[in-house]
Amino acid sequence: MITLNVNGRAHQYSDDENMPLLWALRDILNYTGTKYGCGKGLCGACTVHLNGQPVRSCATPVAAVNGQKITTIEGLSNDGEHPVQQAWQTLNVPQCGYCQSGQMMSAAALLANNPTPNDEQIEQAMSGNICRCGTYERIKKAIHLAADLSTTTANAADLAVDVGATGKKGA
Ligand code: FES
Ligand code: FES
Repeated sequence: MITLNVNGRAHQYSDDENMPLLWALRDILNYTGTKYGCGKGLCGACTVHLNGQPVRSCATPVAAVNGQKITTIEGLSNDGEHPVQQAWQTLNVPQCGYCQSGQMMSAAALLANNPTPNDEQIEQAMSGNICRCGTYERIKKAIHLAADLSTTTANAADLAVDVGATGKKGA
């Protein structure tokens, strides 16, 4: 028996131990916020946190995560108050949206490890997350905004006005 600790909740799992975590999350436990993209560890759409670090759930067998702390996009915050979620909303980052839960999980892990990343550090940390809609510039701006939100008392609405006033919103 394997225990899958997802978003603070323990699930007993007795299916195939070699099943990729992504399959177990989506098809068995119904955490459908995590997306299937390539299924080969190449696109980052399936990114979740394992003990706080980003991993590709499509390339991680269930047996490898027994009893460990798994966080999906559903567990990033209780009601969308995580700085990454606020920044993504403020800057309207998603286009089709398909890649974005993986992008946000990578961004959240980056900021947890490095609260004020520069452009180069952001590009490096996010390089494994592919967006077919090409939202990379908005993602970069949103990560800077999330860093600001984490380190200042400014709220997302005020920052949205500032960003809009300088013509940078929506790039
Ligand atoms: S679906 Fe896992 S990396 Fe593409
Ligand atoms: S928003 Fe469409 S793939 Fe990224």
